[in-house]
Amino acid sequence: MHTLGEFLIASQQKHPASTGEFSKVIHALRLAAKVVSHKVNKAGLIDIIGANGVTNAQGESQQKLDVYAHETFIGSLTNRKIVCGIASEEADDFIEVHNSTENPESKYIVLIDPLDGSSNIDVNVSLGTIFSIYKRISPSTGPVTQEDFLQKGTEQVAAGYILYGTSTLFVYTTGNGVNGFTLNPAIGTFYLSHPDITLPPKGHIYSINEANFATFPESIKDFLKNRKAEDQKYTTRYIGSMVSDIHRNMLKGGLYLYPPNQKSPQGKLRLLYECNPIAFIVEQAEGEAISMDQRIMEIDPITLHQRVPFFCGNKEMVATLKSYL
Ligand code: AHG
Ligand code: MN
Ligand code: MN
Repeated sequence: MHTLGEFLIASQQKHPASTGEFSKVIHALRLAAKVVSHKVNKAGLIDIIGANGVTNAQGESQQKLDVYAHETFIGSLTNRKIVCGIASEEADDFIEVHNSTENPESKYIVLIDPLDGSSNIDVNVSLGTIFSIYKRISPSTGPVTQEDFLQKGTEQVAAGYILYGTSTLFVYTTGNGVNGFTLNPAIGTFYLSHPDITLPPKGHIYSINEANFATFPESIKDFLKNRKAEDQKYTTRYIGSMVSDIHRNMLKGGLYLYPPNQKSPQGKLRLLYECNPIAFIVEQAEGEAISMDQRIMEIDPITLHQRVPFFCGNKEMVATLKSYL
């Protein structure tokens, strides 16, 4: 049985020129994942040991869980000085990591949704973290620039998600398939539990917030109506935590949809922190991820927090959807 650490060493050995820098980034994300997992599992106790904004018995101030996750991941990545820049859904601007003198060769940048599924925090439902890793494109002699973060999804070096569910799962790809590692919380070790995840070619689940139906584009309305017309062939599952919805569909086969609606004319999901990393993973697992009329990973990003309509799942269901778009 392989641990995530052993898996990283084995992967690194396949690339003799590797400096180990990439593995260090994954190590830092793994550590933060364990810290956040522990915290998430205690979320229900926050009301007992002290609410947001007050100080608990240990003198620590309680924080909202999404702020806590943001600070934990940023802290883990910056303390180690192994990345040169980070952008987070929880921060307006990107963060430059000042490591040019100590670690001039640092070339990675990370984009992160530290806690996905915020509406589920208080109701004991699965949450997630999503990350995306690129190489900087600006000269290493100067500070990181916005261009380093606004790269197309096709330029991703790696992407992954952490699912804080019935167990905690770390899933990632480096463009060579997708592997999942389950945390044994008793000893704090991730074990390879889901080697080489591939989406089943067919699926019968679709996942969408259908309460927005009235203002979906006509093409999406037609698609949904016809799914229902096919007598009991399909089933709906929608948790409202993208990571959980995607993970279930990856294992069982299904389609995730977040179309535009009146309230969110570009959909709700963020291209850089949510759509691109999930698209990379889903494509690596033999599925597909598209926006209304193009492959998600080929969209040229314009702003850090840009939103795009998002659809992904197994090939057959995406092909059916495309025939409506
Ligand atoms: P976040 O918690 O990072 O803001 O993301 C929430 C996203 C995603 O996780 C979820 O699938 C979607 O919002 C749910 O949106 P609706 O409540 O509109 O269905
Ligand atoms: Mn999110
Ligand atoms: Mn979030």
